[in-house]
Amino acid sequence: MKNKIRQKVTTTLAGRLSLWYMTSVGLIIVSFLTAVSGLFWVTLKDQIDHHVHIAVNEAREIVQNYRGEERDQLIKNLVGARGMTVIVLSPDGAATLETNSPDIALVTEHQLQKILTSSSLYESSPVHFTESNIRFAAMPATVNAGKGIVAVGYSTQVLYASLYKMLLIVLGVVFFLVLPIAFWGYKLLKKQLEPLESIAGQAKDVTDTSSLSKRISIASPTRELRTIQEALNGMLARLETIFTGERQFFLDAAHTLKTPLAVLRSQTENANLGQKSRKAMLTTIDKASDTIGDLLFLSRVSGRPQKLEIVSLTEILTNLAELATTLGEDKGLKISTDIQKNVNVSADKKLLQRALSNLVYNAVAYNLPHGSIGLKLVEQSHFIMVTIKDTGIGIPKHDLPQLFKRFFRGTNAEEKGSGLGLAIAKAVVENLGGKIAISSSLNKGTSVSVTFS
Ligand SMILES: Nc1ncnc2c1ncn2[C@@H]1O[C@H](COP(=O)(O)OP(=O)(O)OP(=O)(O)O)[C@@H](O)[C@H]1O
Ligand SMILES: [Mg+2]
Repeated sequence: MKNKIRQKVTTTLAGRLSLWYMTSVGLIIVSFLTAVSGLFWVTLKDQIDHHVHIAVNEAREIVQNYRGEERDQLIKNLVGARGMTVIVLSPDGAATLETNSPDIALVTEHQLQKILTSSSLYESSPVHFTESNIRFAAMPATVNAGKGIVAVGYSTQVLYASLYKMLLIVLGVVFFLVLPIAFWGYKLLKKQLEPLESIAGQAKDVTDTSSLSKRISIASPTRELRTIQEALNGMLARLETIFTGERQFFLDAAHTLKTPLAVLRSQTENANLGQKSRKAMLTTIDKASDTIGDLLFLSRVSGRPQKLEIVSLTEILTNLAELATTLGEDKGLKISTDIQKNVNVSADKKLLQRALSNLVYNAVAYNLPHGSIGLKLVEQSHFIMVTIKDTGIGIPKHDLPQLFKRFFRGTNAEEKGSGLGLAIAKAVVENLGGKIAISSSLNKGTSVSVTFS
C-alpha cells in the first residue's frame, strides 16, 4: 500500500507536481516562521536592554541623591513593573537594598557574583548580561560615600512567554489560512492536470484500426493542451486515411481477381483435358479463390464495427470440438475438452466462429499423427479465456513475432494454406476488444489463447 502511494507520487506528473507544490508551501511556512520569530526575538531583546538601561540609570540617580525611607520607597516604585528586581551593593559588596516584584525571585549568590565581577570595569555606562533567565544591567554608583553598585534585572521569562504567544498566533494563521490555501492549491493543480489524463485515456482507447476514427476531445483546453490534441488528432486522421486506403486496395484487388478466376474455373471444368491435369488445375484455382475469399473477409473485418449479439461461447467451443474430431480423424488425433457451461460474449457469431475455427484448423494441420488437441473455456470474474492447445510440431522462435502478419507462412508451414488464418483470427478478436497470444515450443506443441476482459 505504502509502496503503491510512493509509486503514484513519484511516477505520475500530478504526484510530482503536488509533491513539489507541498514542499514549496512547507518551506515558505518554515522560513516565514523562522524569520518572524527571529525578528520578534531580536526586537524584544533590544527593548528589554533599553528598559533595564533606563531603569538602572534611574536607580543610580535615586541611590545617589536620596537617603533612608524616601530612597527605598522610590526604588520600590521603580520595580513596580512586572518581572523586575533591583539590588544596591555597598562598597564592601554587601547588599544594602534588595527589592523585587512578586513574579521574580531574589538575586541568587551566583548572580550576585556576576554583578560584582562585571560592573566594576565601567564607570559611566551600564554593563548588560544574562544570568539564569534574568537580563541584568549593572553600573557603579556612590553608595554610603563609597563606590558601590546598582543592578537592575528583568526576567526573560516574559520574553519567552511573549515569543510563545506570538508563535501560537502565527501557527493559528498557518492552520486556518495557509493550510486551506495549500489544500485548495493542490486541488486546483489536480484539476488542471485532469485534461492530460483524459488525453492519455482517450489515446489508450485507440487500440486497433476500428478505433482510428475516434478523435481526442478536451473540454476547455489550454494552448499547450490544444497543441497536443491537434497533433494527436492529425496523426489519427493520417493513420485512418492510410488504413482505409490499404483496406480499399485489398478489397478492389480481391474483387477484380474474383471474376476472372470464376471464368477460369468454368473453362477448366469444360476444357478438353485429362482427368488428372483438370483436377490439379481446379485445385490450384480453388486455392487462389480461397485466398481471395480470405482477403475479402479480412478487409471487411479490419477496422469495421461488428454487428454484436449475445453469443454462447460454450456452444461455439462444443461445435469446434466436433470439428476437430472430424478433421483429426485421418491423423488419429485425440481431442480433450474442458468447456465451462453458460459462457457468453457479445460478438458477431459467424465472425467469431470463423476466427476460432482457424485456430482449430492450425491445431489439426500442424499436429503429429496420434497427437492430441485440448480445448478449454473458462470464465472468471474479470475475464473469459479460450485456449486451444496441440501437441504438434511447434513453431521456431524466430517465427513467433511474425505469426499474425498477413500472408506469413512459417518455416514449418504445410503445403496448403495462404498465411491469412491467424491474421483473420487476430482482426476479429481485437475488433471485439479481446487479445490473442501464442506460446509454442518446437517439437512439443503450441498453445493459442484468446482472452476477453
Ligand atoms: N498450431 C500451430 N502449430 C505450429 N505452427 C503453427 C500453428 N499455428 C500457426 N502456425 C504457424 O503459423 C503460420 C501462420 O498461420 P496461419 O494460420 O496464419 O496461416 P496458414 O495456416 O499457413 O494458412 P491459412 O491461411 O490456411 O491458415 C503457419 O504457416 C505456421 O507456420
Ligand atoms: Mg492456418
